[in-house]
Amino acid sequence: MTALPAGFAGRIVRWQQSHGRQGLPWQATRDPYRVWLSEIMLQQTQVARVLDYYPRFLARFPDVRALAAGALDEVYACWSGLGYYSRARNLHRCAQEVMARHGGEFPRRPELLEALPGIGRSTAAAIASFCFGERAAILDGNVKRVLTRVLGFDADLAVAGNERQLWGYAQELLPRRDLQCCMPAYTQGLMDLGATICLPRNPSCLLCPAASACVARRQGTPEHYPVKTRQLRRGSQSLWLLRAATDEGAVWLEKRPPRGIWAGLYCLPVFGSADELGAALDGHEQRDWREAPPFLHVLTHKDLYLHSVAVRVRPEALQRRDGAWMSPAQFGQIGLPAPVQRLLLQD
Ligand code: ADE
Repeated sequence: MTALPAGFAGRIVRWQQSHGRQGLPWQATRDPYRVWLSEIMLQQTQVARVLDYYPRFLARFPDVRALAAGALDEVYACWSGLGYYSRARNLHRCAQEVMARHGGEFPRRPELLEALPGIGRSTAAAIASFCFGERAAILDGNVKRVLTRVLGFDADLAVAGNERQLWGYAQELLPRRDLQCCMPAYTQGLMDLGATICLPRNPSCLLCPAASACVARRQGTPEHYPVKTRQLRRGSQSLWLLRAATDEGAVWLEKRPPRGIWAGLYCLPVFGSADELGAALDGHEQRDWREAPPFLHVLTHKDLYLHSVAVRVRPEALQRRDGAWMSPAQFGQIGLPAPVQRLLLQD
């Protein structure tokens, strides 16, 4: 670690204005509802995908009041396919808290934003700086990479104290108070730099506005940053999905519990083994049992192998379970996990 680079914020701001991403729909507004929604959607999700979902979500829920008053199932339906469904649940809860605790207006101070469901420290800072020009530092995964490289910060970020120290540097690097008006461009600039130039592998240092100040570049090893020892251990799991259909084409769907995989979404009944699945139909007449080859669905923390078993039954089968027969026309109106939706629409 060397001294903090002088003029860093100015370089980021000027670069954002000439080379950063412009014209994204959430950049055309300072409405905290719209900015908040975009920041939540953009967590772990590519911009191209969000561009598709964002206008549809806003058409259905144009403001925080509409979202707070909406049914959670409808929120899930608008989110279906974006993944990480706890985001949708928190979005709904957050809208309700903004109505109940803040009179329908998002607070402007980052500490108050951070107290709302689903808003972490970096997201709170992003909203506060984009909408209100607050001097608040962001530090998401991309920005950690940018700052650890520029500063040559090689302490292990798996250690909480080191991460806290990096937050401190992020705060010190912000535009000076007299340049606070540049906060939106600065915040966006750091995000853009991390997403387009300062990449995990093969960063485009020749195009980087901070290259001359960058310690990692001088060392010739930008890819050694950030240092984080604890790695996510990926696991794998097999699940059996029961695709029970009646002769009329209705499919049995059940609401997933509020925690765990596909929380809160409608789904085919899920079982841990083929035997368990068979037991659910025990005693009921079954026809056309078809087990498809398993297909892989990749989540961040594990690989899921999904086995689907299609079977025709009478409507009274499964009636003792908690679920409902739904026709294909209803599939678009409820939140279904993307792989289940694909499976149901396949044939
Ligand atoms: N990722 C998180 N926030 C973003 C934003 N405002 N613009 C582009 N990508 C982002």
